[in-house]
Amino acid sequence: MQLDRLLQSQGFGSRRQCRALVFSGRVSVRGVAAEDPSAAIAPEDLVFAVDGETWRYTEYATLMLHKPAGYECSRAPQHHASVLELLPVPLRARGVQPVGRLDQDTTGLLLLTDDGALNHRLSSPRHAVPKTYLATLKHTADGTLCERLLGGVQLHDEPAPIAALRCELLADTTLRIVICEGKYHQVKRMVAAAGNRVEALHREAVGDLVLPPDLAPGQWRWLHGVPG
Ligand code: URA
Repeated sequence: MQLDRLLQSQGFGSRRQCRALVFSGRVSVRGVAAEDPSAAIAPEDLVFAVDGETWRYTEYATLMLHKPAGYECSRAPQHHASVLELLPVPLRARGVQPVGRLDQDTTGLLLLTDDGALNHRLSSPRHAVPKTYLATLKHTADGTLCERLLGGVQLHDEPAPIAALRCELLADTTLRIVICEGKYHQVKRMVAAAGNRVEALHREAVGDLVLPPDLAPGQWRWLHGVPG
């Protein structure tokens, strides 16, 4: 692939901007300063640098973010900053998008990708990828809360009751709940329908992918396998 096109594919601007980056000596390829934007580069296992920052070529960018509270999962946020602002400019320029949505006050694991087919697959109801949440409850709960959630609760505007896949009360006001769908405010609405209220919500896992304990709020990491 031609170097200017390769840089463009990785989010470094238009082809013209990428040519200018190379001409101004800001790009190196496999540790060697690049001079010719038309040079043919093999993208396999390619490591390159722009302004001294190292990047690995990826056909698609898929990553996980520890979403902090106070960010919206939208490109055009209304009341808070967008989670996309937590990512470097080239990843935003590549068109990376959140996989599904977390509420602005929900924290935890958020996947993002510019691979439209992957995004569709992970968020489609047909694939029913389980999502694990830790909810802090307003009122002390007992086993009946889990019984109700596992048995199914009726949400407004839904044709049939929706049941949690798994549910566990970890403490009086701490609930771990696993759901397969991704409906608007689903956990908060299910818990409300079961007679309690969510005060705080944190996503621990998507499929078998668990939020790494050493990924601090606001930090992101490349994802090379796809959660199943
Ligand atoms: N359920 C909710 O209520 N909110 C989220 O952010 C995610 C799941």
